[in-house]
Amino acid sequence: MLPAHPGDQPDRPGHAGLAELEAREISAWFGERQVLDRVSLTMPAGGITALIGPSGCGKSTFLRILNRMHELVPSAQLAGEVLLDGVDLYDPEFRLTAARRAIGMVFQKPNPFPAMSIQENVLAGLKLTGTRAGRAEKDELVESCLTRAGLWTEVRDRLDAPGGGLSGGQQQRLCIARSLAIRPRVLLMDEPCSALDPTSTRVIEETMLDLAREVTIVIVTHNMQQAARVSDTCAFFLASHGTPGVIVEHGDTYAMFNAPQDQRTNDYVNGRFG
Ligand SMILES: Nc1ncnc2c1ncn2[C@@H]1O[C@H](COP(=O)(O)OP(=O)(O)O)[C@@H](O)[C@H]1O
Ligand SMILES: [Mg+2]
Repeated sequence: MLPAHPGDQPDRPGHAGLAELEAREISAWFGERQVLDRVSLTMPAGGITALIGPSGCGKSTFLRILNRMHELVPSAQLAGEVLLDGVDLYDPEFRLTAARRAIGMVFQKPNPFPAMSIQENVLAGLKLTGTRAGRAEKDELVESCLTRAGLWTEVRDRLDAPGGGLSGGQQQRLCIARSLAIRPRVLLMDEPCSALDPTSTRVIEETMLDLAREVTIVIVTHNMQQAARVSDTCAFFLASHGTPGVIVEHGDTYAMFNAPQDQRTNDYVNGRFG
């Protein structure tokens, strides 16, 4: 068993417990240019929230604000609050490493360390977070993370092979396993399937549905079928005519797709623009 960390719940040893993520009045700028305007969204604990909308409306920026990656961009500014189970992520008391640890990220292009073995890839995050673990614990963690990422049966016989030798879809699941190893409470996924074939996409979607029982998921997707298949709640972002991005409509995914309140949502989910 790995050492517990703050937030671990006694009734679920080894798990940090399901957490709600709430963005309040988030605005963002790159230099003088405002790209998000007072975006508020609650991402329910243990749910899958999909962020949809045309390119350039600020979805990736919003996602990066949710795990404090936005502040790494020179010239980037932000206003508003991000609350993880009611605790402000941007409070000076909340350490950056704690924020990154609690809120993991999977990117569009799978980015395993190509020369590192599959096993080392899964464990890579532990070094960054300074978590120590013995050999047996590590083996257990590698198996459990690869299993939850839906990759274990495909790689169990070649854990020492380089991560770069896997297919694109396998590499993406390896990245998911790597994120899981540090026990995030939230997993952010920025178009995780857009570089993958339909079969790999389906496997990742199944993995997400399984994972949602233990981690809150926020996914950006341009694939409306995917949003409809995997998400419980959905938010439609739009930045019209050079204005900053806003959320036009959000709510239950089924309702958004079948009875949207706003004409622009209706047009977008039915593929009429974007
Ligand atoms: N590092 C950056 N520097 C300057 N402008 C940026 C940067 N990243 C994104 N932008 C701008 O912010 C706006 C929102 O981008 P982004 O969040 O990537 O949108 P989306 O993910 O919805 O396509 C775009 O106009 C984009 O050009
Ligand atoms: Mg993006």
